[in-house]
Amino acid sequence: MGELDPAFIQDTDQRPNLEISDAFDDEFPIIDFSSAPGDVVLQIGQACKDWGFFQVVNHGVPLELLAKVEDLGRRFFALSAEEKRKVKRDEVNAMGYHDGENTKNVRDWKEVFDFLVEDRTAIPASLEPDDQELRILINQWPLHPPEFREVCQEYAREVEKLAYKLSELIAQSLGLPKSRLNGFFKGQTSLVRLNYYPPCPFPDLALGVGRHKDASALTILAQDSVGGLQIRRKSDHQWVPVKPTPNAFIINVGDAVQVWSNDKYESVEHRVVVNSVKERFSVPFFFFPGHQVMLKPLEEILNGDSPRYREYNWGKFLATRNRSDFKKQAVENIQIS
Ligand code: SIN
Ligand code: FE2
Repeated sequence: MGELDPAFIQDTDQRPNLEISDAFDDEFPIIDFSSAPGDVVLQIGQACKDWGFFQVVNHGVPLELLAKVEDLGRRFFALSAEEKRKVKRDEVNAMGYHDGENTKNVRDWKEVFDFLVEDRTAIPASLEPDDQELRILINQWPLHPPEFREVCQEYAREVEKLAYKLSELIAQSLGLPKSRLNGFFKGQTSLVRLNYYPPCPFPDLALGVGRHKDASALTILAQDSVGGLQIRRKSDHQWVPVKPTPNAFIINVGDAVQVWSNDKYESVEHRVVVNSVKERFSVPFFFFPGHQVMLKPLEEILNGDSPRYREYNWGKFLATRNRSDFKKQAVENIQIS
């Protein structure tokens, strides 16, 4: 079996307890979007407060499209390393293929392919010249499989509709006008990531993704039937696995919603355990605000309370967050203590 490259070895206190892998929590919310709209708003509000995560079914994204993305993604990751490296992410390109992702300085057992929902070059005007880390935000597309680009873009357009719908439901659940958050996504920096987790012979030592919170406003995740995602349950801080539900998306609120809602809804920690036998495939859509957007707790939410976060510029935050103290969740840097 050989030895595991030390770069992948998690600290002892971060290693997964594989025994909990079948202990699904039946209370984990599954929300049916074909229910009465008022009920959906109430269920979303409750799920955001209690879990920070929920699943949705009957979400409107064509299931054939999801199946196509999965099939093409698997075919892309099955290409030779040389072929995949033709579209690799580097010092210049922020998008494309990558097989050396770290979370909190430990390497993740996975390969990824990232693309922007808005396929364009964006040099954020809000950034200062010393933000050297700024790389070109432009998509790189592989030539194989041939339909890859078209299907990925179609998928992004469909999930984007769901993202706006969720943003409206979340706004309503906070007692805000339906479209209150939508303007923040003008010129959005949203991206879609294809995650491929190869089987790993060391599931007790390595993680597919180390524990983290998402910086997004929302994340909309499709996962296959293998499972592996675990979330930190708010009620007792235990790691619990999320049971794969056929045709459902897993939604979580990210840091931006936490800031807008002044901690009414919290961005919850999660991680991915690996499987020694099966490969796994997942596709998160990170719904990110526009570059110029200034994020801060919303006045209507505060209603006289003190804001818990300083105002911050999303584009700058995005460009520099990998540089900030890796031990902290980046948003904690703007927390008012
Ligand atoms: C992530 O949180 O980055 C990945 C989630 C997953 O693959 O389930
Ligand atoms: Fe995540």
